[in-house]
Amino acid sequence: MDDDSTFETFFANPPEDIDLDALDRTRIPRHISCIMDGNGRWATARGLNRGEGHRAGIVSLREIITACVRLDVEVLSAYAFSTENWKRPEAEVNLLMHLFAQTFIQELPLLKRENVRVVFLGDISALPLETREVFERGLSETRDHTGMVLALAVNYGARAEIARAAKLIAARVAAGELAVEDIDEDVVANSLYTAGLPDPELVVRTSGEMRLSNYLLWQVAYAEFYITPTYWPDFNRWELLRAILAFQGRDRRFGGLSQKEDA
Ligand code: FPP
Repeated sequence: MDDDSTFETFFANPPEDIDLDALDRTRIPRHISCIMDGNGRWATARGLNRGEGHRAGIVSLREIITACVRLDVEVLSAYAFSTENWKRPEAEVNLLMHLFAQTFIQELPLLKRENVRVVFLGDISALPLETREVFERGLSETRDHTGMVLALAVNYGARAEIARAAKLIAARVAAGELAVEDIDEDVVANSLYTAGLPDPELVVRTSGEMRLSNYLLWQVAYAEFYITPTYWPDFNRWELLRAILAFQGRDRRFGGLSQKEDA
């Protein structure tokens, strides 16, 4: 088996267009978020069924998890299943749920070896029993891990998340624990599924779509977007480095002046 245990071995032999010396390892985004899109089209283009596309997408996610650990990313989040995805044909939903459970069991040793802590964004209580049990096991077995956080958005929708936060805040006000005047951005942020996590600095969307699709609407306020035509199953460590290099080339102003103008 190839040794992929260090940054140097994992990123050995880059393709010609990638200059590893140009990567500033002190400016890696703290939180990278992936909208994994294009599994179905990847499969169709190869004459395979959509399920094969999802299986290939899981292999990509595994590679991106390891790549982010080697890059010392603090949080990797990934949009696996939206509240709108229930509208897909029942057979595809069932297959996805089964694949999630199966993969998660298979990959748990990797997550443990790499000291990754798993959290879920979304309402996992509504998932089929098999998937829910496996996810809950993953949560409890990685709870004390101190390395990268892997935040999997499953049965997630940003509007539902914000409505849920409003309910949680209203309940605290009704219980007399919180005064209306004290509701500020931190209170809202801490009532979201992402409470305690830094906001995404880089959002990657594959397969060329230019949409946010009800994903982390609050949290991406200042994120940089990187959209690539590559289908998710072809998104690998080198594609990730291209995204990070593009991010490092951006002038992030947060509503102020550019670093250069400021100086
Ligand atoms: C989008 O492709 C992808 C998904 C709906 C599911 C992606 C999930 C994974 C890759 C794995 C997640 C793993 C765990 C353990 C939670 P699409 O079907 O929308 O592609 P299309 O737009 O080409 O049809």
